[in-house]
Amino acid sequence: MTERSCLTIILAAGEGTRMKSDLVKVLHPVAGLPMVLHVANAAKEAGTSEIAVVIGRQAEAVERTLTDAGIAATFHEQTERLGTGHAVKAARSAIETGFDDVLVVFGDTPLLTPETIIGARAELAKGSDVVVVGFRTSDPTGYGRLLENGGKLLAIREEKEATDAEKKINFCNGGLMAFSGAILTQLLDEITNDNAKGEYYMTDAVEIANGKGLTVSAIEAPFEDALGVNSRIELAEAEAIWQQRKRNECLAAGVTMQAPETVWFYHDTEVGSDAVVEPHCVFSKGVRVASGARIRAFSHLEEAEVGEDAEIGPYARLRPGAKIGKTAKVGNFCEIKKAKVAKGAKVNHLTYVGDAIIGEGANIGAGTITCNYDGFNKHLTQIGAGAFIGSNSSLVAPVNIGDGAYVASGSVVTDDVADDAVAFGRARQTNKDGKAAELRKRFAEIKAAKSKG
Ligand code: UD1
Ligand code: MG
Repeated sequence: MTERSCLTIILAAGEGTRMKSDLVKVLHPVAGLPMVLHVANAAKEAGTSEIAVVIGRQAEAVERTLTDAGIAATFHEQTERLGTGHAVKAARSAIETGFDDVLVVFGDTPLLTPETIIGARAELAKGSDVVVVGFRTSDPTGYGRLLENGGKLLAIREEKEATDAEKKINFCNGGLMAFSGAILTQLLDEITNDNAKGEYYMTDAVEIANGKGLTVSAIEAPFEDALGVNSRIELAEAEAIWQQRKRNECLAAGVTMQAPETVWFYHDTEVGSDAVVEPHCVFSKGVRVASGARIRAFSHLEEAEVGEDAEIGPYARLRPGAKIGKTAKVGNFCEIKKAKVAKGAKVNHLTYVGDAIIGEGANIGAGTITCNYDGFNKHLTQIGAGAFIGSNSSLVAPVNIGDGAYVASGSVVTDDVADDAVAFGRARQTNKDGKAAELRKRFAEIKAAKSKG
């Protein structure tokens, strides 16, 4: 089948009025990735030869999003939004290049899988001229209904045109239509706007094809594949389903999650086998977790790498550029930003490490702060292998702490510390014997004088 050439037309021009948003609908993200990129990626994975994107509202932003993501496509502007059929007509020049298969997909169906696209193409390869991907739902409101007779697809009836009886049909148009390239332009020529909405419906192509004696068929896909996002409610539904799929993928790949329904992934999250992700963790973009690592409850990770058998959290925050080495530990209420924590190092409690390099096996005590910012520039803190930073120390960058060095608790370190040196950056303590009793007496007298007055 792969030798058949294929054009995928992504319709992404719609106004998306029901989103009530300043942002064009197809750029709203699911798992952090704009919906139109989910669709383009699925088309690529399904082996399409070319992609044509029909753009309209915020055309430039849609085009930039796709090209920045490395999607090679031609762009076709639909200047007025006169319906899905009108939108496909806008990509006519791409269709006329000549392809065996032409797929029409919507930029607002982010859960479409490559398998479903491949399924539609397989149907074309078997001899159908038009293939519609349908799905069944208990609430078909708003979708085009597939009218069948004896297993043959007769027509697609849009909600606005449907009779009460037709509205009861729960087999719906999922939006993916596949056409034999040879006949598509003829079908497009015959689509009119003679209907209740005054729009050019792409779905009319089915009746037109039947009128020409062409072979039209419907295949069924899971509901999720076809979920069309028209509102924020549906966007949240799509997100929930995407998350569910990703969780299952991770579980199947050997990741342990005790409460997977509480874990939130990004589209590009990578988690190795035998890693454990405890409840309520959130992955933002660009996170890689190696095998055997444990991400403990309530941690938030973004653009971070976690090495093998490392342990993060509970309640840890890894910000962009955090690179945590093998078996290293980042404990509760710690924030790590643009910093390398080498193998076996420990940053266990209430600590901020930013713009830093921490050597192997170093121990960073509770409440340590790298003072990396002077209001204008960021500066580097380097801590050597095996160094020990006493609790509640401030390391004022730029500063280097040598291998095996000690920093006394409560120090403010402004000067470099040599290898194996001990730094005291705090005042010496003095004790005054008996002074406490004297103080108590004095305070009691003051209180008594006040209550008299
Ligand atoms: C469409 C289908 C309906 C199907 C449903 C599945 C038609 C006439 N109806 O309805 O049968 O059940 O999708 O989700 O095809 N677009 C343009 N230009 C336009 C109009 C739309 O590019 O002039 C794009 C939109 O950006 C969107 C897609 O086409 O990505 C679908 O448009 P939408 O308005 O969401 O169609 P539905 O009413 O959902
Ligand atoms: Mg829609």
